[in-house]
Amino acid sequence: MTQTLALNRNQYLELEKIALGAFAPLDGFMNEAQFRTVTETMRLPSGDVFSIPVVLDIGDDDARRLKASPSLDLLHDGVRVGRLWPSDFYGCDRTAAARHVFGTDDMSHPGVAYFMALKPVFVGGRVELLRRATFDISADELTPAQTRAAFKARGWRTVAGFQTRNVPHRAHEYLQRVALEHVDGLFVQPLVGHTRDGDYTPQAVMHGYRALVGSFLPQGRVVLGILSTVMRYAGPREAVFHAIIRRNYGCTHFIVGRDHAGVGGWYGEYDAHALIERFAGDLGIEIMRFKGPYHCEICDGIVTEKTCPHLGQKVTRTISGTDMRRILVDGATPDPRLMRPEIVDALKGVPLFIGDGAP
Ligand code: ADX
Repeated sequence: MTQTLALNRNQYLELEKIALGAFAPLDGFMNEAQFRTVTETMRLPSGDVFSIPVVLDIGDDDARRLKASPSLDLLHDGVRVGRLWPSDFYGCDRTAAARHVFGTDDMSHPGVAYFMALKPVFVGGRVELLRRATFDISADELTPAQTRAAFKARGWRTVAGFQTRNVPHRAHEYLQRVALEHVDGLFVQPLVGHTRDGDYTPQAVMHGYRALVGSFLPQGRVVLGILSTVMRYAGPREAVFHAIIRRNYGCTHFIVGRDHAGVGGWYGEYDAHALIERFAGDLGIEIMRFKGPYHCEICDGIVTEKTCPHLGQKVTRTISGTDMRRILVDGATPDPRLMRPEIVDALKGVPLFIGDGAP
């Protein structure tokens, strides 16, 4: 009889992303050799760049029970959703791995805490998806095949991917506009998998973007679709991972701005630019690196240090997602020069934050 393994929601979403090709060249959960080279060198044994471990964690009892099985049925809520052909079962030095991936083993880092809490054994192996996920968020998700078809149907030869987990503020919009001056289309792909308390809800992010696209960005030049995967908060390494994912969705370019996928000051503002530069030419996608747009009163608009001579003076205001969140948590209205009032309006009645909203 075929053995079964129950997946939680995050594991199911990872299975789905692997099977849909979002994490190509992976075709399964990482085996030990892949886990080790990715963790230590940011490459798969094949030499392909890959910066974040994608693992399936199971308990010791499950590992003992499943060790001799050539294949497993993967269940979610009792329903068969996929299959796995286990290649190996392994453990790792969690502290050393966390230091490699996150640059720290400090449990106050949300990505480290998530990684450390994974069950003790990882099982590697090729997977097959039998059933797409149907969570509340799934309706807004496009597969790599769908985005590639959508870009082709629009005649786009160049597409910039944009990662976000925020309601759009004017710095985000500025990056998108500058990118749109260079490429045929923009693919905004909010990440809405497991995030942390204080992050925006998927509904808030999508309502914000629906208010932006169409009213302020030309509808015909933007595709919007979510990415349901775990947010790792691994800063520079995650920027590389995010670029690889967007390549797999058919983007030719990927935007990396300030503190990409960072959290709470763990990474330098432009560490992600430096790391991703090391792999330039090896990722299969071109990186558009941007330094923080800010608002300048004298220039009277959103500018960057490349286009404004007043940086650091009293007349300039940085635009930070964290600050915007803090304002919205308090029920106040953000400065319209930093976040569009139409976007703030679109959030009315929508649950804004995961948890109690503390950023
Ligand atoms: S995250 O996944 O990278 O955490 P976030 O929504 O905060 O998502 O940012 C989306 C993208 O915009 C990232 O590439 C980030 O670097 C960039 N970005 C966000 N805010 C700013 C800002 N104020 N200045 C420059 N880039 C920014």
